[in-house]
Amino acid sequence: MSFQLRVYVPEHPLIKHWLAVARDANTPNALFKTAMTELGRWLTYEACRNWLVTMDTQVETPLASCSATMVNPQVPVAVVPILRAGLALLDGAQTLLPLSSVYHLGLERNEQTLEASCYLNKLPEQIDPETRVLVLEPMLATGGSIMFALEALTRRGVDPEQLRIVSVVAAPPALKKLGDNYPQLKLYTAFVDEQLNDNGYIVPGLGDAGDRAFGT
Ligand code: URA
Repeated sequence: MSFQLRVYVPEHPLIKHWLAVARDANTPNALFKTAMTELGRWLTYEACRNWLVTMDTQVETPLASCSATMVNPQVPVAVVPILRAGLALLDGAQTLLPLSSVYHLGLERNEQTLEASCYLNKLPEQIDPETRVLVLEPMLATGGSIMFALEALTRRGVDPEQLRIVSVVAAPPALKKLGDNYPQLKLYTAFVDEQLNDNGYIVPGLGDAGDRAFGT
């Protein structure tokens, strides 16, 4: 079977609204953080479709017995925020996935080479291939950080078919790397911008997402 990276840009008024707020350079830091939380929430909602495993069950309403469907708690779910900026999406994602494990991954970009290096890795040694893994990385620019993260996850046993990425703005260089290396992946993003500047920032993008979320 052949695969092709699937990039979902949900047509949703709330996603468009909060993206506009996040893009606006005049948005104060606190409101920027709110926009990222909301984008994390709505993009995670979209990513859960056909991904979370459900089970049929029976519940008693106050009036009668009725068949129902619930999320199967036996299938593990993990959220991997890529620090720093991915933390800004975490609150929104966690409200929808309250039982998930959160594995922090701190990656730093060398501003000269644009290569990613790891300063914090809270991933377990092994991850059950059944685990549904949601990676939070708001800015998919050169693709250095996301490729580092996916390599670390798959090396620990994660099945790329069970991976979903939530980003806010994605750009072609990152999409090409993802498509070439992980064609089974599904990516949920609020927008795809066309270019990067010479410093590896997405244009128009939204600037430095970590600085804006954390007021630095
Ligand atoms: N990281 C950011 O925060 N912004 C970009 O545009 C690219 C990488």
